[in-house]
Amino acid sequence: MKSIGARLAICYVLASTVTFASLFLAGRYFIERHAIHALDLLNESEFEQLKAGIGPVGNGLPRDVLRDRVQAMMTDNLELFYVEVYGPNGDRVFRSQGLRGREIVPLPAGQAFNVFVDGLGELRADTFALGPFKVVIATSKRHVRVVMDGYERTFYGLLLVMILVSSVIGYGLSRMALRPLRLIQDTADRIRSDNLSERIPVSAAKDEISDLARLLNQMFDRLEVSFDQIRRFTAEASHELKTPLTLVRLQAEKLVVEGHLQPAQEQSVQIQLRELAHLSRIIEDLLFLSRADARAITLDLKPQDPEPFLQSFAQDAYVLAEHQALRFFLTHHGRGQAAIEPKWLRQVLLNLLSNAFSASPPGGRVTLRSTLMNGTWQVSIEDEGPGVPAEQRERIFERFVRIPRPGEDKGTGLGLAICRSLVELHGGRIFAEAAPGGTGLRMVFEIPATTSLEGAAASHDVPLHEAGTT
Ligand SMILES: Nc1ncnc2c1ncn2[C@@H]1O[C@H](COP(=O)(O)OP(=O)(O)OP(=O)(O)O)[C@@H](O)[C@H]1O
Ligand SMILES: [Mg+2]
Repeated sequence: MKSIGARLAICYVLASTVTFASLFLAGRYFIERHAIHALDLLNESEFEQLKAGIGPVGNGLPRDVLRDRVQAMMTDNLELFYVEVYGPNGDRVFRSQGLRGREIVPLPAGQAFNVFVDGLGELRADTFALGPFKVVIATSKRHVRVVMDGYERTFYGLLLVMILVSSVIGYGLSRMALRPLRLIQDTADRIRSDNLSERIPVSAAKDEISDLARLLNQMFDRLEVSFDQIRRFTAEASHELKTPLTLVRLQAEKLVVEGHLQPAQEQSVQIQLRELAHLSRIIEDLLFLSRADARAITLDLKPQDPEPFLQSFAQDAYVLAEHQALRFFLTHHGRGQAAIEPKWLRQVLLNLLSNAFSASPPGGRVTLRSTLMNGTWQVSIEDEGPGVPAEQRERIFERFVRIPRPGEDKGTGLGLAICRSLVELHGGRIFAEAAPGGTGLRMVFEIPATTSLEGAAASHDVPLHEAGTT
C-alpha cells in the first residue's frame, strides 16, 4: 500500500479491533465461569434441601425407603434438577423421571462436571456424598447458553460499529498526523530554480517534522546560494567576454577591409569572423538567459489583437522561406486579445521558424497556425522534417541540448531554452509534439488571452492568410 495515511488508519483499526476482541474473550470467560459457578451453588443448595428432607441415612437404610423419600422430595423441582442416587456398590438406587431413562455417569463425590445427555443437552452436574450413598444433581446449562449467545450477538454488533467508528477516527488521525508532511511536500514541489527563495513553514513545536522542515530549509539556503553564484558567474563571464570579442572582431574586419591579405589569409580571417559571430551569439544568449533567471527582464505586456503582429511576422517568414526554397503557410482563427510584447514574441517565432526551416526537407512546407479560443492564444509551427523522438521532446528545451543531424547548421542549443523563458514571461507554456501529418515536429505555445469566440463558435472564423511561396 502506497499511502502512509492509509497504513496508519488500517493499523489503528486493527489495534482497536484486537483490543476489543481480547476484552470480549476475557469478559466471555469470566461471565461463563460466574454463571457455571452459580449453577454449582444451585445444585449444592438442592442437595442440602434433599439431605434435610431425607433425614439421617445409614448403612441399614433400605433402598426402597431411600428411593421413596428422594422421590417425595423431587416432585417440586421435576423440571429444574436431574437427580441420581447410587448405592455403596455403584448400583443405581434412584433416577429422576426428567432424565427419561438416560444416565449421568457419576464422578467421585465432591466433583463438578459438564455432561451431555441425549435429548436434554448439556448439563452441569455435581456429585455429593450422602452417608454411604452418592447423589448426582444436575441442572441444564441452557440458560447459560442463552446468556452467552446474547453476549456474542451484542459483541458482533458492537464490533461492526467499532470498526466503522475506528476507521473514521483512524482516517482523521492519519490526516492530522500527515498534515505537516503534506505542507512540506506542497512547498518543496513549488520550489524550483526560478523560485528558490520560498521556504517550508516551520511549526513552533520542536518535533521530528519541524526538524525535517528546518533541515530542508537549510538545504534550500545552500542551493539558493550555489544557484546565485552560478547565475552571477554566467552573467559576469558573458559580460566580460563581450568587449574583448568585439575588439577581436573589429580587428579582423579591419584586416579584411584594408585588403592587404593574401587570398588564403583572407579565407582564414573570414572563418575566424564566422566563428566569432557564433561565439558572440552564444554569449548574448547566455546573458539573456541569466538575466531571465535572475528575473532581471521585465516585459512591457500590452493586451492587443495578435493578428496584425502575425501579418507583419508573416512578411518576413515568406522572404526567409523563399530564400531557403521552402513553403510557408499561415492561418489565424478567432478573435480576441492577448497581453504580449511583440519584440520578444517575434524572437520566439523566429527561433521556432529557424528550427523548422533547418529541419525541413527541400521544398518542405512549414505551417504556422494561430487560434484564439477558450481564453487561450495557441500558436503552433509544424514542419515536415524528421521530427524528434517522443522521449527527447522535453529535453530539447534544456540549455545546450542538441540532436545533431548530418548537414545541419551548427546551432548552440540555446534557442528553445530562450523560447521557453520568453513564453513563460508571457505567462504561457511551450511544448513539442509530433506533427499531425506523421512526420515532422509541431512546436506549440499557448498564452492566456481574452477571446470573444468560444468552442464551437470558432467555426465562424476565417483564415487570415493562406499562401505559399515555392
Ligand atoms: N522543428 C524541429 N525538428 C527537428 N528537431 C528540432 C526542431 N526544433 C528543434 N529541434 C531539435 O532541438 C534542438 C535544440 O533546438 P534549439 O533551437 O534549442 O537549438 P539549436 O537550433 O540547435 O541552436 P540555436 O541556439 O542556434 O537555436 C536542435 O538541435 C534540434 O535537434
Ligand atoms: Mg534553434
